Amino acid sequence: MEKPKIYITRTLPDEVIEPYRNHLDIEMWAKEEEPVDRQVLLEKAENADGLVTMLSDDVNQTLFEHAENLKIVANMAVGYDNVEVDAASDNQVKITNTPDVLTDTTADLTFSLLMATARRLLEANDYIKTGAWEHWSPLLLAGSDIHHKTIGIVGMGRIGEAVAKRALGFDMNVIYHNRSRKPEAEEKVGAVFVEFEDLLEKADYVVCLTPLTEETRHMFNYEAFRKMKSTAIFINSSRGATVDETALKKALENNEITAAGLDVFEEEPISSNHPLLQLPQVTCLPHIGSASVETRYKMMRLCLDNLVEFFKDKPVITPVN
Ligand code: DGY
Repeated sequence: MEKPKIYITRTLPDEVIEPYRNHLDIEMWAKEEEPVDRQVLLEKAENADGLVTMLSDDVNQTLFEHAENLKIVANMAVGYDNVEVDAASDNQVKITNTPDVLTDTTADLTFSLLMATARRLLEANDYIKTGAWEHWSPLLLAGSDIHHKTIGIVGMGRIGEAVAKRALGFDMNVIYHNRSRKPEAEEKVGAVFVEFEDLLEKADYVVCLTPLTEETRHMFNYEAFRKMKSTAIFINSSRGATVDETALKKALENNEITAAGLDVFEEEPISSNHPLLQLPQVTCLPHIGSASVETRYKMMRLCLDNLVEFFKDKPVITPVN
């Protein structure tokens, strides 16, 4: 029997791919660091039975129209706002994502970003490396305490719960807001549910972990930042478009809040000239929430396992639709 034809939109390591070649006829975009050329993807999709896509690929109606044989798309991310899921279902295309395997890694990064922003670690690093360190002084690069403060988690999913667990280790008080209450999180990590406005007013650290949907797009607007404490620190490791970046910049400039730590941006890659990045109180990372070697390998394998199961006519492991 012919093996299903799979196109992968990035170059994945041979040691991950090789074992799957027994089951799948795999072709990959060959330019390691670059995203797939859109025209190439559309051409490859024409003959593909399955695709492995990245969060930077638009998996939309146009793609489905080019892809007569396409039956499944394994998206290598837990978030799937880059996928038009309804259009996929209308075109009988199965979508899978990569939850669970990245929970702890993304929580580690989120908490690291919180700590780096609070304690100004990147500014401190630059301070030494640019030769600015001439004297020690009492308030040199003084930041904000983390321990015994209140963390407000917006979006209490698996990653939210894992961040809350880390916060407990720092004796933080955990409050959260979510579309619906999460009794398990309340029980396991003692997180207290509050309304969104309450969270904004009470939290020292506002951490955005909510998926991007039409409801959450720009939920962090100027009004939201204005409600936060002037000492608040805003952290985002979910999706950039949950934040109105112009409003965030204005809020930082007007001292409505103290600092922001951002792993995600409305447009990625964000330009280094972007006005938001010119502010010293912004700590920024290039969307590396799940980027440990171990976890990225697990995400790749989960995508491929989903494809193998699907083409064996078995239920996929992590379905989206
Ligand atoms: C995801 O998987 O959605 C994360 O943003 C990747 O870091």
